[in-house]
Formats: sequence, structure tokens, C-alpha cells
Amino acid sequence: MCSLIAMINSHDVWQPLLQGMTRMEYRGYDSAGIALLHQGDIVCHRSVGSVEQLTQTIEPAKGHIGIGHTRWATHGKVSEQNAHPHISGSFAIVHNGIIENAASLKQWLEKEQDAPLDLHSETDSEIIVNLLDHFRSDGGSIEDSLRETLSLLQGSYAIAMVARDNDHTVWGARKSMPLVVGVGDGMVAMASDAIAFPDSINRLMYLKDDQWLRLGIEDMQLHEHTKPVPLPQSSERVPSHHLGKGAFDHYMQKEIFEQENVLRAVLQELPTNSPSIDWQSLRRLMLVGCGTAYHAGLAASYFFEEMAGLVTQCEVASEYRYKSHQGGGDVLGILISQSGETADTIAAQQKMKEEQIDSWAIVNVAQSTLAREASHLLQTHAGAEMSVASTKAFTSQLVCLLWLVLQAAAAREMSSDVNTTTQDLFQLPALIGDVLTHGSDEQHVAQLIHQSPYVLYVGRGVHSVIAAEGALKLKEISYIHAEAYAAGELKHGPLALIEKGVPVIVIAPNDSLFAKTLSNAEEIHARGGDLIFITDREGVRQAQHLTRANVILPTVSPFIAPVVYAIAIQRIAYETALARGTDIDRPRNLAKSVTVE
Ligand code: M6R
Repeated sequence: MCSLIAMINSHDVWQPLLQGMTRMEYRGYDSAGIALLHQGDIVCHRSVGSVEQLTQTIEPAKGHIGIGHTRWATHGKVSEQNAHPHISGSFAIVHNGIIENAASLKQWLEKEQDAPLDLHSETDSEIIVNLLDHFRSDGGSIEDSLRETLSLLQGSYAIAMVARDNDHTVWGARKSMPLVVGVGDGMVAMASDAIAFPDSINRLMYLKDDQWLRLGIEDMQLHEHTKPVPLPQSSERVPSHHLGKGAFDHYMQKEIFEQENVLRAVLQELPTNSPSIDWQSLRRLMLVGCGTAYHAGLAASYFFEEMAGLVTQCEVASEYRYKSHQGGGDVLGILISQSGETADTIAAQQKMKEEQIDSWAIVNVAQSTLAREASHLLQTHAGAEMSVASTKAFTSQLVCLLWLVLQAAAAREMSSDVNTTTQDLFQLPALIGDVLTHGSDEQHVAQLIHQSPYVLYVGRGVHSVIAAEGALKLKEISYIHAEAYAAGELKHGPLALIEKGVPVIVIAPNDSLFAKTLSNAEEIHARGGDLIFITDREGVRQAQHLTRANVILPTVSPFIAPVVYAIAIQRIAYETALARGTDIDRPRNLAKSVTVE
């Protein structure tokens, strides 16, 4: 779960390399490094921490050609030695992915060379550069050495490399990890994401699995395994907007507050961009995603069943990919992802293809792997989401899915009030605007919970999913242990956790399940739990004898309530993390885009 970049420029490349790496830090930010080729020498700079920390250690550096990397540790702890690039002989490489047979390749190479390998890191990646050097020392050309090395690697990789004795070429290769080539005036580059490229890059080419590339300003050659293949057609690059935080302290805060406008844009797009799905002949729907995207699918599954009478299954992609499923023409898959680069979700997409399950992808980043590989795409149009904690992407995924529920309900003639519910959906942006402007109850809740060792979230029906999303968000950015339970499940075990002062956040609009949830709240109260209700005015009135604090939300229809209630759990997490002083936008151990399984 790393990012890589390689660049050849008519000027020194260290600055655009570092700038590109900063833009890709969403893929990992525990260490970073660059290698520059200058006058027949490879000069390497690496450091633990962010690209900004690396930048502080670098003096203006010479070299028109270089590679760079941001790391999210998989094999080997976070340390300078384990940071990329790795060097051996005349090569320096950066790698994104996991080499699964690194240990056996090391044994093989030691046997071949009849000597222990002089490795400098604990990574699986370093073996790649040692193999390259081995084949080169054996008399192979650079390309032969690369070809031989690639043929031995098992696992996933995107690789970029430079060679000491060639100062006008970089090489790249990919398998199951993204690699995009950018071409501009006097500059060529490749990277894990086109977002890394400077504005002067105006054409893009995406490599396919098992392809490798020799890239120079004047000369570009693409191969698949051993065979030369034509270059893919290039597409024009739409420059991404690298938006800052504006008046906000954190991207997460900004993205929470953007939700009114984002949902307005999403709802404007949907009617014109609506997928043509033959809902009537569907027998089963499979929703698949990871983390927050999975929660969006899970929340929507309640409505697909209830309003469209469609059997709906929602699974996390990391499980879906290893299970068997009954496919067939009457099953539809929907893959949900903000980044479109989540390895497990991409693998689930592949699995659906193998199982002949037709699939749609609901994706925010239009140029992502998932979006490009999708036979049908519904883009969420939430704009760039920079904070690791997903907020506006979640509500926009949910709104897209609710829109599909209404399409399905209308086509299957299962619900009599589709028109009214559609109107409710279109009221969401204004409602969210109101909630964001007027609400400040979350700050009070944060003060109550920020020193607790753990927090429980409970809810019933679709709000058990919002509870799960609340717990995920809280643990992700505040590092407080949080768990969510369907309220009715408490007495099957978790109630044992309740003692005096344990905060329990109850997500319970005054809907048809409210009385049941209230009974569960009584049980928590009787055991000393500190109840915090997220509810509406009527809910507060009925629960006032139990609650320590409330987040009061407007009374809304059950169909849109999960979106409105999501805002409150996002803000509680944000305010709590703020009170604890954690790194809100870049929480420890995580990355925005999870590109390894
Ligand atoms: O980019 P994706 O939507 O595929 O990412 C899936 C999860 O990694 C992501 O939602 C994660 O759970 C968030 N950081 C949670 O806030």
C-alpha cells in the first residue's frame, strides 16, 4: 500500500518528484524516499515520516531523472532501511505491492550465487533489485534482466527502476497494482496515480497487468511478458484540483461541511446519469465494498429488500473474493469504493467476472482501476476526498444507492410511495445544510467521551449500520476502542461490558423501532451506562429520563434518516479526535487507499 513515481525531465526532477509523492501520500505515509541519477551515480535520500519530513532533509539536488516512493509498511517495520528506493549494483527500484515468494527467491539467489545475500532491509521488495543485479552481472541486457526478474515474481507489483549506466530511461512494470504513464512537453513520468503528475503532463496511458515499459523522452517501448506490444491509446488528462483546506483546520472537517453541496451535485447528476438496469428480471443483488463503503452497501440493503422486494446480500470484499457465489444472468453485483483502488474490491470485481455476475461499480475517482475495469460505472461526484476518514464519500455512496432503491422499487412496482420518497431524497441537501449550521451538540458529546477507554454504539434496523459506521469513525481517528451492536443483541453478550460510566451512543430516530431501542436503553441505564441519544425532538422527549446528553436532529423520513444521522456520528468522531489531539487527517497505521489485501 505504497505509491511510486518515476520521472524524466529537461530540468532537475527532485521537486516535481516530491510534489507528486505528497499528492499520493493518501496511499501510505510512514516513510518516503527518492533516488536521483546524476553523472553516472545514484543518489538516494530516504527518511521515516511524511514527504514533508523527507523534503526537510534534502538540499536542492541534481538529476534530470529519478524515482520516488511513499511507504505503508507491510513487510518490515517503519524504518529508514525499509524505506524505498532499494539499490543493488547498478539499479535502484521502488515497488508497490507484495512479493509473496520473496523468501524462496532469496534462497534461490543465494544458491545461484553460492553466497549469502547482502540485504539491507526487511522488505519483500529488496529481492527485486537483487535479482535484477544478478541477471545483469550474468551478462544480460537491462531489459533481459528485467524480463527474467519479472518472470520469477509471484504476488502483486508496480515497479519503477533506474539504471546507473543509462541516464535517459526509466523502466516500469505492473501486475495487479496500478501504473499510469504521463507524457508532456519535455517530460515523461509514470506513477501509481495520475494525481501525482505536474500540470505539464497532458496525456495519460494506463498499463495492463503483465506489461512492462521502457520509457524515455524520445523513446517508449511496451512489452507483455516477452513480446513487444503496441502502446495503448493515450487519453487527455483532466488536471485534478489540488484543493487545500480553505478556512478549515482539517480536511475531515472541510469534507463534513461540504456534504450539503456534494449531495446537491450528486442528486443533480443522478437523473441524467442513471444506470439502465433490468430490475424486473433480477433475482438477487450483491453489494460489496470495504470499511465505510461496505457500510453504505449494508445500509442500502435494508431498503432494497423492503422497498424493492429484492433479495440483497452485502459482503466485505475481503471475504467475497474467497467465497463461492451462485452467479447467473439474474444476479447483479454492485461494487462500492471511494478510491476505486482498494485491492480487495478490485479482486471482488474480478471474481464477479469469473462467476459471470454482471456488475456495476459505484466509484468516486473516475480514473481509478475499479472505474476503468467496470463494465458499468456510476460515479459519485463527491470531489477529492483527502481525509483518511471517509465522510462525504459515504453519504454520496448512500445517496446513489438510495436512488437505485427507488429505481428498483418503481420498476418492480413494489412500493406505492416512490414519488414521495423521491421528494424526501431531494430534500437531503437542504436538511444537511441545516444540521451542519445549527448543530453543536457533538462538541458536548466529545467532551463526555474523549477520555473514555471505550465507547459502545447501538441502533436498530438500518441504524445498527450507522452505529457501526460511528464506531469505525471514532476508533479510526480518536484511537478510542469503539464497538457497535444491533441494540437487540446487547443481552446476548455485550451487556456484560456495561458498568457505571460506560458511554453508550444510541442512534434512534423516533421511528417504528424506537420503542424497542428505548427498552434496550433502559437495560443499559439500569446497569449504570451513560446514555447519549442521537435522535429527534420526540425521541428526546421519550428518552429524557435516561439520557446524559443528546444530539438532536430534525424529524425526517426513515428513508433518508441514515444520511442525516451519519452527519452526527462523523462530527462526534471529529470533535472527539480534536479533543484528544490526534492526527485527524492522517491517523496512525492507516492509508487513504488500501492497495494491498
Ligand atoms: O476507497 P474505498 O472506498 O474502497 O476504501 C474502503 C475503506 O478502506 C475505507 O472506507 C475506510 O474504511 C475508511 N478510511 C473509513 O473511514
